[in-house]
Amino acid sequence: MLEVRNLHAFYGKSHILHGVDLSVGEGEIVAVLGRNGVGRSTTCKAIMGLVPPQGVVRYRGRDIAGLRPDLVARAGIGYVPEDRQIFPSLTVRQNLELGLKRAGVFGRWSFDDVFALFPNLASRRQTAAGVLSGGEQQMLAICRTLMGDPDLILVDEPTEGLAPKLVEQVATLLAEVARRSVAILLVEQKLTIALEISRRLYVMGHGRIVFEGAPAELTGNSEVRREWLEV
Ligand SMILES: Nc1ncnc2c1ncn2[C@@H]1O[C@H](COP(=O)(O)OP(=O)(O)OP(=O)(O)O)[C@@H](O)[C@H]1O
Ligand SMILES: [Mg+2]
Repeated sequence: MLEVRNLHAFYGKSHILHGVDLSVGEGEIVAVLGRNGVGRSTTCKAIMGLVPPQGVVRYRGRDIAGLRPDLVARAGIGYVPEDRQIFPSLTVRQNLELGLKRAGVFGRWSFDDVFALFPNLASRRQTAAGVLSGGEQQMLAICRTLMGDPDLILVDEPTEGLAPKLVEQVATLLAEVARRSVAILLVEQKLTIALEISRRLYVMGHGRIVFEGAPAELTGNSEVRREWLEV
């Protein structure tokens, strides 16, 4: 459903992406792994039109490269940024409402669906989002994106800085999301949840894809792990 070919991106004169190729199938969970600064977030931003992309970005056969971010979202791609972008003074419920494409119009996710997936949010629906823990804010950021009823979500480092128990909760939530036919491009640094829930993985190094394979292939390839992942 998503096809990225020969994607390049720049910040001013710095050339960050050097021809990224990747794809995500309908309902698939695909991970993009790599060390700090290799261009994982830039890849998401270029797909979303937040950074000008050069190259091919095709979504369900339609060329969306360089479309405005709101139009990319409208086409069906949701984005959960690295910094979450929660509105701290608004309540949990208000944050979720902001994820709707139009006020009062729901897709496959109702408030109750989201609260059922993550009961911690249910009991705190009237709480200001700013007082939630980091893990809860991450769940909220994912759930808010779901409210827009995307068919594909790009999730940038959802487990960064979370305790192991919360990392597991994020993994469970994402697996449930995929079970409801939402495809996921999961950006991670650590292998843990990527190996656990994704069907295919890419490893990025210096603005390029340097490995592609199934989780078992990466587990079995210590050379790739040593060269591109371990710190
Ligand atoms: N707004 C920006 N202006 C200039 N350079 C940037 C900007 N954002 C990122 N970069 C640079 O682009 C490169 C890739 O950054 P990117 O954020 O895509 O990395 P990443 O793989 O997501 O890693 P991490 O999230 O750990 O930083 C890095 O060298 C970074 O310093
Ligand atoms: Mg990043």
